[in-house]
Amino acid sequence: MTDATMDRDFAGLTEKIARERGFSCASYKERCLRRRIAVRMRARGLHTFADYARLLDTDGREYDLLLDALTINVTKLFRNWDTFQAIERVVVPALWERPDPELRIWSAGCASGEEAHSLAILMHRYVTAREESHRLERVSVIGTDIDRNSLDAARQGAYAESAFVDTPAELRARYFSADAPYLVHPEARRLVRFERRDLLREPPPAGELHLITCRNVIIYFDRQTQEALFQRFHDALAPGGFLVLGKVETLFGPARARFRGVEPRERIFRRQ
Ligand SMILES: C[S@@+](CC[C@H](N)C(=O)[O-])C[C@H]1O[C@@H](n2cnc3c(N)ncnc32)[C@H](O)[C@@H]1O
Repeated sequence: MTDATMDRDFAGLTEKIARERGFSCASYKERCLRRRIAVRMRARGLHTFADYARLLDTDGREYDLLLDALTINVTKLFRNWDTFQAIERVVVPALWERPDPELRIWSAGCASGEEAHSLAILMHRYVTAREESHRLERVSVIGTDIDRNSLDAARQGAYAESAFVDTPAELRARYFSADAPYLVHPEARRLVRFERRDLLREPPPAGELHLITCRNVIIYFDRQTQEALFQRFHDALAPGGFLVLGKVETLFGPARARFRGVEPRERIFRRQ
């Protein structure tokens, strides 16, 4: 098979996925998509994109497995604890000091909700330490993702042992049930809600936001899409609001000048 035929079949397959499952492959890095699709093809003993596209027509389960492979929903509670420490030290007090009646936090690409729950826990811990729990209803955390199965898991708020590798023992003891499956404490959980939202095709949650975390998501998008998202995040944030990216992600393009790096190592930026 020639490279041109392979490229044509790959384009046909990605258009099919976008059309039938609403996953807009065109904005993702092609190298990454090819690698992920190749894993599923190997698992099914197929060698061409065209054969794999035909399999998808008759095998809904394989389609689900492919979308799982494409969305890459691995995550953890308090993933990169250093980053959460910086959020707790720098971001949480600055948010709480704001005069706004509501504090709105968005975990964009939240997978099964670990990041959203971790943020709610930090807010809860800070506010209760100040004996201001009666004002907790100011805080709302919205977790969004494109992947429905992940969101179903997020809404359960129940985690396996493996989700805790980055979680300090003290937070685990205070905010999770003692027995498996480990449930997030209702006081933190009630601050969080989840919605399906495609970052590439749908706007951010309505209203001004005060903190956006979008970690380990944009890395899969092409450069142009990343730049457009940075601009969208900027516009969605209130002045002085925070943006947190993943450890290996960087803010670049025209929107960069509109943010100040407050903890550059932890990829924490503040809207000017
Ligand atoms: C690796 S997880 C990151 C989870 C969490 N933010 C973290 O850092 O641990 C990437 C998530 O991005 C989601 N995602 C990928 N493309 C998306 C899109 N277009 N819109 C919304 N979520 C998307 C995937 O479904 C997946 O759950």
